[in-house]
Amino acid sequence: MVYVTRKSHFSASHRLYNPTFSDEKNDAIFDKCNNLHGHGHNYVLEVTVKGLPDPSTGYVIDLKQLRDIIELEIIDKVDHKHLNYDVPFLEGIIPTAENIAVIFWSILEKSIPMGTLHSVKLYESDNNFVEYFGEPVNIPNFKAEEVLS
Ligand code: NI
Repeated sequence: MVYVTRKSHFSASHRLYNPTFSDEKNDAIFDKCNNLHGHGHNYVLEVTVKGLPDPSTGYVIDLKQLRDIIELEIIDKVDHKHLNYDVPFLEGIIPTAENIAVIFWSILEKSIPMGTLHSVKLYESDNNFVEYFGEPVNIPNFKAEEVLS
């Protein structure tokens, strides 16, 4: 297997809170991330596809094609947006890096034309990042069918 990764960037704001919690509980759990009008991150997204290089091209996946898919399916929809309000596929979802990575996976998995999606890695900052490999995850309010339709 050969693992091929495309790195992309986007900037977005979000607010972490659970509407079923009291204000006090949201403050206790999410602290500064619960700021009423949100806060921003310069996110870094790394998408890794695995496979065997095609004997005729030497490619697992054409990285230009992977770049275009990530731009079209993800970056164009989240860059310079407020993730709580502006992104239909994140509606009703607490926009932690964990949840965002899982949802990005579900979108990309169906769009990758060659090879197999291996991981989605999402950096919220230099020091904080999450990585997801496609195991089943339950995210309240996330309906994969709607995201993909
Ligand atoms: Ni944040």
